[in-house]
This record gives sequence, C-alpha cells and structure tokens, in this order.
Amino acid sequence: MRVLLTGGAGYIGSHTLLKLLQEQNEVLVLDNFSNSSMESLRRVKQLANRDFDFRNGDICNSTLMNDTFNAFKPDAVIHFAGLKAVGESNDKPLDYYTHNVTGSVELLRCMRRHGCKQIVFSSSATVYGEADYLPYDEQHPLRPTNPYGRTKYFVEEIIKDWTASWSEASAVLLRYFNPVGAHDSGRIGEDPLSTPNNLVPFISQVAIGRLDKLNVFGSDYDTRDGTGERDYIHVDDLARAHLSAVHFASKNKACEAINVGTGRGATVLEMVKAFERASGRPIPLNMAARRNGDVAKSIADVSKANRLLDWEAIHNIDDMCRSTWNWQSLNPLGYK
Ligand code: NAD
Ligand code: UFG
Repeated sequence: MRVLLTGGAGYIGSHTLLKLLQEQNEVLVLDNFSNSSMESLRRVKQLANRDFDFRNGDICNSTLMNDTFNAFKPDAVIHFAGLKAVGESNDKPLDYYTHNVTGSVELLRCMRRHGCKQIVFSSSATVYGEADYLPYDEQHPLRPTNPYGRTKYFVEEIIKDWTASWSEASAVLLRYFNPVGAHDSGRIGEDPLSTPNNLVPFISQVAIGRLDKLNVFGSDYDTRDGTGERDYIHVDDLARAHLSAVHFASKNKACEAINVGTGRGATVLEMVKAFERASGRPIPLNMAARRNGDVAKSIADVSKANRLLDWEAIHNIDDMCRSTWNWQSLNPLGYK
C-alpha cells in the first residue's frame, strides 16, 4: 500500500514508519519538525534498510498538501501530526485548534479532492474525561477536560461527518491510552524537547541523572497504593495496531473508534519499581500534591480492538521499562 504519514518523524510515527517499511509498504512522511528531528528518520531508514519519501512542511499548508497528494497518490493516511501537551493547550488553545483541528480539516479536504479514502487518526483516551465506569469502552460518554482533549474529540466528530458524507470513505479513530517504551534496537524512542510532562520519560531522565527526583503527583487516590493508575501500552504494540487499522480500513467502509491499551493498569509506584528493576538504579521520590486535571484511573476495554483489528498487546510493563532504559542509556541526550 501507499501510505502517507503526517507527523511520521515523531515518537509514535517513527515506530509505525519502521513497521510499514518492514512490511513493504511505500511510505511518504510529512512533518514540520516542530517536535521532532531528521535524526529519527535517518535512523528508521538505517533500521529498515530501505528508503522512503519525505516532505518537510505543515499540514495546514494547502498548497504543499495538494502537491504532496498529487505526487505521491496515497491509498491511505495515518494522521499523527499535531500538538500533544495537555498543560500547554490550556495556555495556547488557538495553536492547538489550528494545528490539530484546522490541519485535520485541510488534510481531509485534500484526501477527498484526490480520492484518498482511508484514514487512521491518532486520538486519545483523554476524550473520555472523568470515568462513569471502568474500564472505558468506546461507548463511554466523551467529556474531555482540556483544549488538547477537545481537539481530539472535535476531529473525531469531523471525521465521522466526513465518512458519513462520502460512502467510499473509511476511518479508524485509535484512542491511545498511555504509550511508552522504545524500539528494541535502542535506536529510536521518545525524545521530549524539554523537561518531560509524562511519567515514564521523567523517570527515565531521573535514572540517567538528568533530573534529581520524581514528583509523585498524589498518593491519596482510590487505587491499590494511592497513586494514579494508567493503562501503559508499549509503542511497538501500538505501532502494530496501526498496521491492523490500515488493513481494517481498506476492507471495511466504516468509521470506528477503537481503544488501544492492554486492559491492565499500573500505578505510579508500580512503574517506578518496574523501572528500578529494568535499570538497576534507584529512583528518588518526592510525594507531591495531585496534579490538576488528573483522574485516579484510566484503563481500556480492549475487546473491540481484539475483535475488529485481530490485535492485542503482547508487552508488559517490564518490557516497556527495559526498552525505555535501553533507549535512554544508549542515547542519554536523545537524538541530540
Ligand atoms: P510527537 O510530538 O512525537 O509527534 C507528532 C509529530 O507531528 C512531530 O514529529 C511534529 O513535528 C509533527 N507535527 C506537529 N504539528 C504538525 C503540523 N502542523 N504539520 C506537520 N507536522 C506536525 O507525538 P507522538 O507522541 O508521536 O504523538 C502522535 C500523535 O498521537 C499526536 O497526534 C498525539 O496527540 C497522539 N497521542 C499521543 C499520545 C502520547 O502519549 N504520546 C497519547 C494519545 C494520543
Ligand atoms: N505522574 C507523576 N509524576 C510525573 C508525571 C506523571 O506522578 O512527573 C503521574 C500522573 O499524575 C498520572 C501518571 O503518572 O497519575 C501518568 O501521567 P502521564 O502524564 O504520563 O499520563 P496521563 O495519563 O496524564 O496523560 C497521557 C498523555 C495525554 C493522553 C493520555 C491518554 O499525556 O496526552 O495519556 O492517552 F491524552
């Protein structure tokens, strides 16, 4: 297949790119490098031992998007490009609406114009908001609590309308839970440009000595040990889910929202222990106040992914921490 990857130089995009190349798909990556570098693409090319097309540009640039569709003629798009920091989205909501919503509308318009009928979209568990029940299934009410989450919710709705208006179109809205880990080679991984907001990259930088200690945000939640519980999903399993989703979209005229997680939760303290086992290094802790906007637990019901995509996660939290540590210790400064 010919697959266009928007945001393909980023964390999840680069891991998916590698799998698509290994399965002999023709790929074009379009990325503006606002949160990534050319180095990830150079390394994917080495790992795959194959070349792929690449364009440096913005999904909001309609001239560039039209040129790209004209030249590459994709069968399908996997749409990763977007801004993703929850805290920043409260301070710069219009940047989030521009990149995430306007950019997606531009992309869908271009797909329609050029007859490209299939899209897999990077959505997020954050669309659910406070849980009425757990695990979250795809029928759970959607009540995102921040601008970032609302951009994901709006784009899901826009894609539903887009598929409803075009009988040949199909879409899979993948609602990722908490992606972590890195490729086994340690050559590609998550490389936050500034101090990490997310738990595992933060722990990893404590272990390597770039940060002093982990602030544990809240120890009075209604969980096994009082700390926040999440459904962490290995990026390698997540990348595989994209290949299954593209395949599903090519066979089914539908628009399906599908959770991607393991169906199991781990608390902050359980992740810390797993990382200490993986790295052999102690992670100093500071028990801190709850972080604004955090929920106690977020766990996926993954039965729809099992059923429709014939996919399930195979990695556990020890695999996730081992691969993160391998990447971090081989690349103490990330791609720099
Ligand atoms: P990332 O920041 O590493 O990758 C996103 C890529 O998109 C980057 O390479 C960035 O340079 C590019 N980009 C951003 N805006 C662009 C634009 N306007 N035009 C072209 N390129 C642009 O993030 P990631 O963790 O790989 O996430 C990929 C997608 O998955 C995002 O849409 C994100 O919201 C979503 N998601 C991520 C997580 C997570 O925890 N990592 C969880 C749920 C959903
Ligand atoms: N945590 C800490 N200390 C830290 C960072 C996080 O204790 O320094 C805790 C949080 O309080 C939470 C857990 O670790 O209990 C996980 O936090 P993350 O920031 O890693 O992940 P979130 O579940 O808050 O959010 C992530 C992404 C969102 C995405 C969501 C669901 O940041 O973009 O997963 O996919 F929407």
